[in-house]
Amino acid sequence: MPALLKLDSVQFGWKHSESVLDVPSLTIEKGAHTFIMGPSGSGKSTLLNLIGGVLLPQRGSVTLSDVVVSVLSAGKRDQMRADSIGFVFQQFNLIPYLSAFENVLLTCQFSESRRNKAKALHGSEMLAAETLLNGFFSEQGFDFSRAVSKLSVGQQQRVAAARALIGSPELIIADEPTSALDHDTRQRFMSLLMEEADQRQSTLLFVSHDPTLTSRFDVVYNMSDINRAMVQ
Ligand SMILES: Nc1ncnc2c1ncn2[C@@H]1O[C@H](COP(=O)(O)OP(=O)(O)O)[C@@H](O)[C@H]1O
Ligand SMILES: [Mg+2]
Repeated sequence: MPALLKLDSVQFGWKHSESVLDVPSLTIEKGAHTFIMGPSGSGKSTLLNLIGGVLLPQRGSVTLSDVVVSVLSAGKRDQMRADSIGFVFQQFNLIPYLSAFENVLLTCQFSESRRNKAKALHGSEMLAAETLLNGFFSEQGFDFSRAVSKLSVGQQQRVAAARALIGSPELIIADEPTSALDHDTRQRFMSLLMEEADQRQSTLLFVSHDPTLTSRFDVVYNMSDINRAMVQ
């Protein structure tokens, strides 16, 4: 399998004196479902922000689809992220006053390539958003035009996943997206996320402190295996 993502000698610290991440090497293969487990504070979110080009490493390189992200301008990194990465954040980061439907569609407004992929797969971006939301909401007749601030935490989580998946990004990044869900909702959410990622041939990179989720993944790493800054 070819590599989708490569980190090489990546180092990052919030302050120069202390290192939060020291990753000699990490490769994520195309199409794989990878789980990275680590306790709170071990650098999981920081790692994902480096991969997404939100943060820049002080040393080393991050390469996504053969493009070295860490040398791109801020504008190019923003576009790369909009085109190639679907983020599911722990705090969702939905726009509270927009509806579920509008939040999902917003992804397509920031990326022409994802708009085109959504159209190619479903006929229109509207149909793509509707199909994805229907997949994540088994409740009959759910109203996707309500402001997301009116939805429950579990419902907002599913809207966030639909927003990440629309337009088939190469990479889906999920940052502890199940921490607010109860057991049954969590199981269903995981199954849907994986099915939808597979249907779109997206690579899935999922981080969490929760070891009960590991059995679903092709590849499992511990932060302590990949991050030398964690080994005291
Ligand atoms: N914006 C920030 N400014 C300064 N330190 C931060 C910031 N975000 C995270 N940290 C610190 O970086 C370390 C790793 O944090 P984080 O990547 O959020 O870990 P995790 O996601 O595994 O809980 C922690 O010590 C945390 O306190
Ligand atoms: Mg975190």
